[in-house]
Amino acid sequence: MSPGRKLIAGNWKMNGLRADATALCRELAQKVRMTDIGCELLVCPPATVLTFVGNAIAGSGILLGGQDCHAAAAGPFTGSISAEMLKDAGCTHVIVGHSERRRGYGERNSDVRAKVAAAWRAGLIAIVCIGETAEDHESGKAREVVVSQLSRSVPDEAIAINLVVAYEPVWAIGSGHLPEIAEIAEVHAAISEQQPSTRILYGGSVNGRNAAEVLAIPNVDGVLVGGASLHLDEFWAIANACGQSLELQR
Ligand code: PGA
Repeated sequence: MSPGRKLIAGNWKMNGLRADATALCRELAQKVRMTDIGCELLVCPPATVLTFVGNAIAGSGILLGGQDCHAAAAGPFTGSISAEMLKDAGCTHVIVGHSERRRGYGERNSDVRAKVAAAWRAGLIAIVCIGETAEDHESGKAREVVVSQLSRSVPDEAIAINLVVAYEPVWAIGSGHLPEIAEIAEVHAAISEQQPSTRILYGGSVNGRNAAEVLAIPNVDGVLVGGASLHLDEFWAIANACGQSLELQR
């Protein structure tokens, strides 16, 4: 089990225009100022609204993150964003190796590893996503695949404060289907063995109804939330589930 409070991270993916993004984050910041939720909140909006979201959450303690970065600090890489740019925009974290990038953009473990190094070079915490496909899951290879992805995607210099691991079974993302609780526990235990004292998030179809149960699983130190993070009430319910999960653990 890693130290500290649980981390509830919202991955907005390619969603969010200025007006809605700002409104959602202003309201979220307002709620956070009025309640002690006992967990850390992180929002990872598209790069185009980072500054607006950053202004909306200023002073609330909510953290800001990017969804991807290039391995280089600057240069002729049209359309790309460096870790230094994310840092400059107010980010503390960056998601790397999300399965949508691995599958949709052909990112290999070695690419992810270079991006993690870039995040650290810029002073960001890297949230490294790993997870098995439906096929791997069906053939009982989840643990094996995840452990191998982890060792290939994370540079040797990893320390607990610069790394967060997000276990996201590819088949669970956006599907409405959670793995069995025992399956999540097994994979998280394996990750924890490999990266002791690192925060390990679970991601894939987390919502306000299942969050407390997920957050109560041993070695689950938070959640990475996609679809549900776009709705204030849903995201807020997940944040509030932190308290309930502590009750369930007792
Ligand atoms: P989901 O996505 O919560 O919509 O399943 C999670 C993710 O892709 O990080």
